[in-house]
Amino acid sequence: MKILAVIGTRPEAIKMLPLIIELKKYRDFEVLICSSGQHGDILKCVFDYFNIEPDFSFCAMKKGQSLSRLTTRLLDYFDALLDKISPDLLLAHGDTTTAFCASLSAFYKGIKIAHVEAGLRTYDKRSPFPEELNRVTIDALADLHFAPTQLSRSRLEKEGRESVFVVGNTGIDALSYTLDNNYVLPVSNKEANKKILLVTTHRRENIGSKMRSSLLAVRDILEYRNDFFAVFPVHPNPAVRTEAISVFEGIKNIKICEPLTLYDFHNILARAFAVFTDSGGIQEEASFLGVPVFLLRDTTEREEGMESGNIRLVGTDRKRIFEDFLRVSKSEEELSKMRSRSFAFGDGHACEKIVKILLPLSKNNDIIK
Ligand code: UD1
Ligand code: UDP
Repeated sequence: MKILAVIGTRPEAIKMLPLIIELKKYRDFEVLICSSGQHGDILKCVFDYFNIEPDFSFCAMKKGQSLSRLTTRLLDYFDALLDKISPDLLLAHGDTTTAFCASLSAFYKGIKIAHVEAGLRTYDKRSPFPEELNRVTIDALADLHFAPTQLSRSRLEKEGRESVFVVGNTGIDALSYTLDNNYVLPVSNKEANKKILLVTTHRRENIGSKMRSSLLAVRDILEYRNDFFAVFPVHPNPAVRTEAISVFEGIKNIKICEPLTLYDFHNILARAFAVFTDSGGIQEEASFLGVPVFLLRDTTEREEGMESGNIRLVGTDRKRIFEDFLRVSKSEEELSKMRSRSFAFGDGHACEKIVKILLPLSKNNDIIK
C-alpha cells in the first residue's frame, strides 16, 4: 500500500511522525511524506527531532498570507503532487488548512483518505476558526476515521460516518520520545524554585482583544504572586508576538522566548504547576501528565479533559481568569482533581493500533469502502 502522509504545521508533525515511524516497520507499506511548509522553522524543528526528512516539500508559509491565498496555493500544490505519486491512501491529521486541502484534492482524484484525530467537534463553526469547519469537512471526505476517544466516535457515527476506529491520540505516543527524568529546567535556580506556569497562545479567533485580555490576566497573576514564574514560548505569528511583548513589558517573573523544542516543551510541561493555553494538543498532553490546564478559549472540542477534571474552560475575560486561578491555586482539593493523570486521550499506543487496522487493508485495498 502506497501511503502519502501530509504534514503542514508543528502539531501535525508531532502527532504524525510517531505513526510514520510505526508504519515504516512494515514492508507492507511504502510511506511517503509531504511537508507543505505551512509552518516554517517550528515545523522543521520537529522533523529534525524525529530525524526524519520529508520526501516532498513545499513552502506554503508566507507572512501575512490570507486563508484563501494559503488554500489556493495548497490546492494547486497537492493537485500536482497527487498526480505525480498516485498513492493508494492519503493520511491526513486533524484540522489544519494543509490537511483540508490535501483531503479535498485526494477526494477529487478518487484517492482514499484516512483521517487521524477524527471526530473532534465544538459545533461552533467560528471557534476554533477555521479548524472546526476543516475537521467536519475532512471527516466527510475520509474513508477511514481514526477517532481518539469514544466520544469522538459517537459524534462521527451520529453524522453517519462509517469505518470509525477508536485508537487514542497519537500525540500521547509522542511523549514517549521526549520525557526525561533527568531534565533540568532552563531557568536560574531561583526561578526553578518558584512554581512554573507555562503559557501559549495562537488561535486566530482570539487574536486581538481576547488574546490581550487573557494575557493581561496572566500578567496580573504574576504581579500579585511573586512565587510563580512563567515561561512563554511565543508562536511566530507576528500578531501574537506583538501582543506578548507589549503585555509583559517590565514583568520580571516571566521568560518570553522563541518556540521551544518538543523535548524542552514536554519536559517543562511535565514539571509545570499549571498551563495557560488556547492550544488543542497541549490540552491532551497536560491531561495525560496530570498538569492543570486553564484553557483560554470559549469552547473546547476536548470535553473529555473537562470531564476528567484536568481542564478548566476559563474563557478570555481578564478578571475571571485571575480570580479563578487564584482560587483554584489555593485549594488542595481542586488542585488534586486537576492533577490526576487522565488516559482519556489515549494510552500511548495509538500508532500501533492504527497500523494493526491498516495492515489487513494493505493486502486488499478494495476493503476500504
Ligand atoms: C496553524 C493552523 C492551526 C493549528 C496551528 C498549530 C490553519 C489555518 N491553522 O495555525 O489549525 O492549530 O497551526 O500551531 O491551518 N507564521 C510564521 N512562521 C511559522 C508559522 C506562522 O511566520 O512558522 C506566521 C505567518 O505570518 C502566518 C501566521 O503566522 O501567516 C499564521 O500562521 P498559520 O499557520 O496560518 O496559523 P497558526 O495560528 O499557526
Ligand atoms: N509545542 C512545542 N513547542 C512550543 C509550544 C508547543 O513543541 O513552544 C508543542 C506542544 O507540545 C504540542 C504542540 O506543539 O504538541 C501544540 O501546538 P499548537 O498549540 O501550536 O497547536 P494546536 O495543538 O493548537 O493545533
